[in-house]
Amino acid sequence: MKYQAKNQAFSQAADGIVLGLYENNEFSKSFNEIDLAAQGYLNRLIQSGELTGKLGQTLLLRDLPGVATKRVLIVGCGKKGELTERRYNQLIQSMLKALNNANIREVVSYLTEIEIKDRDLYWNVRFAIEIIEHTNYRFDRFKSEKPESTALESLIFNTDCPQAQRAIAHAQAVSAGVKAARDIANMPPNICNPAYLAEQAKHLAAEFGALSLEVIDETQMAELGMNAYLAVSRGSANPAYMSILHFNNAPDKNAKPIVLVGKGLTFDAGGISLKPAADMDEMKYDMGGAASVFGVMAAVAQLDLPLNVIGVLAGCENLPDGNAYRPGDILTTMNGLTVEVLNTDAEGRLVLCDALTYAERFEPQLLIDVATLTGACVVALGQHNSGLICEDENLAADLLHAAQQTTDKAWRLPLSEEYQEQLKSPFADLANIGGRWGGASTAGAFLANFTKKYRWAHLDIAGTAWLQGANKGATGRPVALLTQFLINQTK
Ligand code: BES
Ligand code: MN
Ligand code: ZN
Repeated sequence: MKYQAKNQAFSQAADGIVLGLYENNEFSKSFNEIDLAAQGYLNRLIQSGELTGKLGQTLLLRDLPGVATKRVLIVGCGKKGELTERRYNQLIQSMLKALNNANIREVVSYLTEIEIKDRDLYWNVRFAIEIIEHTNYRFDRFKSEKPESTALESLIFNTDCPQAQRAIAHAQAVSAGVKAARDIANMPPNICNPAYLAEQAKHLAAEFGALSLEVIDETQMAELGMNAYLAVSRGSANPAYMSILHFNNAPDKNAKPIVLVGKGLTFDAGGISLKPAADMDEMKYDMGGAASVFGVMAAVAQLDLPLNVIGVLAGCENLPDGNAYRPGDILTTMNGLTVEVLNTDAEGRLVLCDALTYAERFEPQLLIDVATLTGACVVALGQHNSGLICEDENLAADLLHAAQQTTDKAWRLPLSEEYQEQLKSPFADLANIGGRWGGASTAGAFLANFTKKYRWAHLDIAGTAWLQGANKGATGRPVALLTQFLINQTK
């Protein structure tokens, strides 16, 4: 889709225009202008009850008397002052559906005059684009019959505010990052294995001059002493690869980087502690953290942000096998701490702990790991909020702010010494599970043993990385949250 922002006279609009209408007879400027030209035609529709302004109601008018543009689509915005981000989402989706049904290719939108609660024009434009791109997304590369492409190709926002241009650039980059993350995450696990993640990272690095790639294979991992990571990988015939994308674009090329580490389990069967069969296919999404880090790197490169950012995709596969690691095994991690494995299905933290130790060499300004880490996080927060674990108040506040800005929601979960105590092992420094209760926090507590050298935050996206049921598929979360966090860092 093509997006522009410029002031357009009604008559210049080729295929049609979109007008917003509130429910309580408060009309926008453009609505009044069109109605004046049409000699009260719209008001008569309101009087007759055909046009109500109810949220999501659409009415397409053709050849309106006195109006040059061929078609006018009126979209209900609900009561003025009550248009939340969620409702705006509904409204934009209704608009999109109506435009596509009417086979309209190019449209000028006057919804720029509509007020979203506590949001300015920047967000009006930015959300519209992100919602449209999200809605238009299809993953159909394995379908023999592809659905027809939708009609709408070009949307012009009627405004000449410079912030609208910024909103378009940001929305397009975030949308491209979200799409990249969804595409990789939706790929089946027989194709998307750790080598595939590395291959995708290679393509991305080739696309942008400021991006470069480094790939750590199992031989190098062994030399580095990444024995926890390697133990998880042992049960799979697909070797592990840790792909590291370097984006070195700060004015000071030596400035300490922001490091993002993504859990990249391209399939998690649970290992010897095998998972139940139901919904096990969804464990192809256990690389959602790596997918989102990949998407953020794509967005950051597209925006050419003046930052040094490193994205680590910790690719690995967890399968049961004659050579697989077992419950009872004691592993020596890269930082020297020993771990007693009590459940091979708590593999994410074992892969991450070595990736987090490896990241010390980058001397991170701060590090955020992103992982589909625990079912317990989904039990606690449902599928609407990612779980944020962060003891650094400033970093936590910045991440929650970015979450609120983008509506890519996150909620903070606790981390304290009590959870650490749940990880005691009679035989090793740590156990890899912490008992029945507070699983998201004990997982965070486990990771905290490996992040002492830098400012750190952990995002558990087990509930938010993909949807189940009718709309099954990757969501691309938390690409928007993290990209916004990085945009904010440039101010
Ligand atoms: N990848 C899973 C977590 C997960 C489960 C994400 C369901 C989304 C939906 C992770 O590797 C895992 O298996 N965690 C275990 C930990 C437990 C053994 C302590 C879990 O949450 O059950
Ligand atoms: Mn697991
Ligand atoms: Zn897992």
